[in-house]
Amino acid sequence: MNSIAIEVKKLTKKYGKLTALSELSLNIEKGEIFGLFGPNGAGKSTFISILATICKPTSGDIIVNGHSVCRQPDMVKRVIGFVPQDIALYPMLSGKDNLDFWAGIYGLRGKLRKERIDEAVAVTRLEGRIRDRVSEYSGGMKRRLNIAVSLMHHPEILVMDEPTVGVDIQSRRYILDMLDGLRKEGRTILFTSHYTDELETLCDRIGVMDKGRLLASGPAAELESTYGADSLESVLEKLSGEGKD
Ligand SMILES: Nc1ncnc2c1ncn2[C@@H]1O[C@H](COP(=O)(O)OP(=O)(O)OP(=O)(O)O)[C@@H](O)[C@H]1O
Ligand SMILES: [Mg+2]
Repeated sequence: MNSIAIEVKKLTKKYGKLTALSELSLNIEKGEIFGLFGPNGAGKSTFISILATICKPTSGDIIVNGHSVCRQPDMVKRVIGFVPQDIALYPMLSGKDNLDFWAGIYGLRGKLRKERIDEAVAVTRLEGRIRDRVSEYSGGMKRRLNIAVSLMHHPEILVMDEPTVGVDIQSRRYILDMLDGLRKEGRTILFTSHYTDELETLCDRIGVMDKGRLLASGPAAELESTYGADSLESVLEKLSGEGKD
C-alpha cells in the first residue's frame, strides 16, 4: 500500500511577474503531522490553497491519495478538510445553522447529517452558545467552529492555514489537543504556523519555507542539529541567509 498521502511535484505558482512558489517538491506520509514554517509571503498559503483546490498551479502538480489536484479536484476535495487562513463562516447565521449549511454542501442527509452535526457541536465545545449568531462569537470560538466544519465529512487529510492565530490560550490549547487526537486516529495533518513552540511539540516534521522555496524539512531537533541552531527561527535565519546572493 502506498504510504504517501501528499506528493508535491515541482509545484510552481506565478502571479504575473511574482513567483509565489518555485518548483516545490515534497512527500507527506500518511498519518504524519507536517508543519510549514516561514516568514510572511513565503508561499505557505499559496501552497495550501493549491492543495485545497482553491487555485491552480502554473506548473507542477500535487497528488493526494493518488488523485491530481489539477485533473481530479473533486476527488481531492472528498479526502481533504480545509481550514483557511481567514474565517469562512456566515456571521448572521447561528453556529448550528452554519454546521447545517456545510453538512448540506458535503452532501450529508438524514440520520447521518444529524449525527455529524451533533459530533461537530461536541468538537467545538460550544454547546451553550451554538444557537447564537456567529457574529457574536469571539475569534477563538469562530476558529473552533471553522475547524469543526472542516471535519464534518470525516476527511483523511486535514489542511489548516494558521489554525491558532488570534485565539486565546485556552482555545489554542484546545485546538492543539484536537490535532493531537486526530493524529491518534491516523489522520494526516498539514498546517502552517508562526508559533515555533506548537510546531516543535506537535509536528513529526517541519518544512522551512522562504521566497517560494522549501529550504529544508525534517524533525525539529534534526533541523536544529543539522544547522547548528538552537531554535527554528535560527534555522530559518541560517537557511535564508545562505540563499542570499
Ligand atoms: N492573489 C494573489 N495575487 C497576487 N499575488 C499574490 C496573491 N496571493 C498571494 N500573492 C503573493 O504571493 C506571495 C506568497 O503569499 P502567501 O500568501 O502564499 O504567503 P504566506 O507564506 O502564506 O504568508 P503569511 O505568513 O503572511 O500568511 C506573496 O508575495 C504574496 O504577495
Ligand atoms: Mg498565509
